[in-house]
Amino acid sequence: MNEDGLKKLKWARTHMKVLSSIAIEMKENRSLEGIRIGMALHTEAKTGILALTLQEAGAEVRLASCNPLSTDDDVSEALNDLGLRTFARKGETNEEYYSNLKSVLAHSPHVLVDDGCDLIKLAHEKGMRVWGASEETTTGIVRLRAMERDGVLEFPVMSANDAMMKHLFDNRYGTGQSTFDGIFTATNLLIAGKKFVVGGYGWCGRGIAMRAKGLGAEVIITEVDPIRAVEARLDGFQVMPMMDAAKQADFIVTAAGNRDLVTAGHLRVMKDGCVLANSGHFNNEINIDDLERLSKTKKSVRRMVESYTLEDGRTVYLIADGRLVNLAVGQGHPVEIMDMSFAIQALGVEYLVRNHEKMGKKVYRVPAEIDERVARLKLDAMGIKLDTLTPIQRDYLNSWEEGT
Ligand code: ADE
Repeated sequence: MNEDGLKKLKWARTHMKVLSSIAIEMKENRSLEGIRIGMALHTEAKTGILALTLQEAGAEVRLASCNPLSTDDDVSEALNDLGLRTFARKGETNEEYYSNLKSVLAHSPHVLVDDGCDLIKLAHEKGMRVWGASEETTTGIVRLRAMERDGVLEFPVMSANDAMMKHLFDNRYGTGQSTFDGIFTATNLLIAGKKFVVGGYGWCGRGIAMRAKGLGAEVIITEVDPIRAVEARLDGFQVMPMMDAAKQADFIVTAAGNRDLVTAGHLRVMKDGCVLANSGHFNNEINIDDLERLSKTKKSVRRMVESYTLEDGRTVYLIADGRLVNLAVGQGHPVEIMDMSFAIQALGVEYLVRNHEKMGKKVYRVPAEIDERVARLKLDAMGIKLDTLTPIQRDYLNSWEEGT
């Protein structure tokens, strides 16, 4: 037994109170008896607790990672020791990554749980028709909506990401904290007093910007969406194009879910010593080919930090090859955040198993009752009580009479 992995799993379980209470019920009901589940998620402790929850409810689970750098090898081994089949190693080559996804699909799963849509896409390429899938992240949902629009989606997919109890907290507070976990570990540099550029002001960008501000940085946002740009400005941040931001930035962190936020043009004007990191799902937000092409030398200067010297002698630093910094270097989102996200996933999988026959080839939102159940369990876990509407207040909300 990998004891370090087991300890990490136990620690996570102790602090995942929402998922634990759902797990007790799923285990009692054996709600996933005989169901084969194929997962491609960041293979670390919190994911392990989701996988064990599904297994304890009766499912046979196979797990691969959804990113070549995000696996915690101790946890992966401990999960195998606990009877789950894992196919994940930190530092996978591209071939290994896809071969691991194939091993998950070789089990003929009924249900897929994916993060980023690579597993779901591979299942489509192989002509597999599963009952349905659940997708964790914004990037995956963007790809799935494009598949639905183009009429190529072959089974129902639950969008865990669209649940309020997922994106409001995971994308914002989770990414906000774990991005700095990664940056601190990689660089040990000070944030206070620095110019900190955040590429994208979606939920993840908002979280990173909020935390950078709290750490004393001067925060600059780059955006393409006018409404988000106004929001960023009124939240107290400077907003400007990346070309202007790059000239002043001490740090640039991308979290837009789009490619090419930082390209050759930005590198040509970038401030000497700028640190580049990405917190989005794929490593294409910073154009690494451009960085390699414009650099005369590249060397490793710390674990997970490469320094690139540009033709004119300026240096820029890249963390973790532009792979998501919060998992490639940091430990992923905090445990209590993934508790909520994975509670949504567990209930989403149960919903798919119960309802797949009535569902079409579409991306579905998680039902509001699941969101509300997870919120109430989270309040219980935090020891917080709510007021309730009185009958008079309820009637008032349902009437169109003016107030008196
Ligand atoms: N841990 C497991 N999955 C994660 C995710 N999608 N983001 C951050 N941390 C995670």
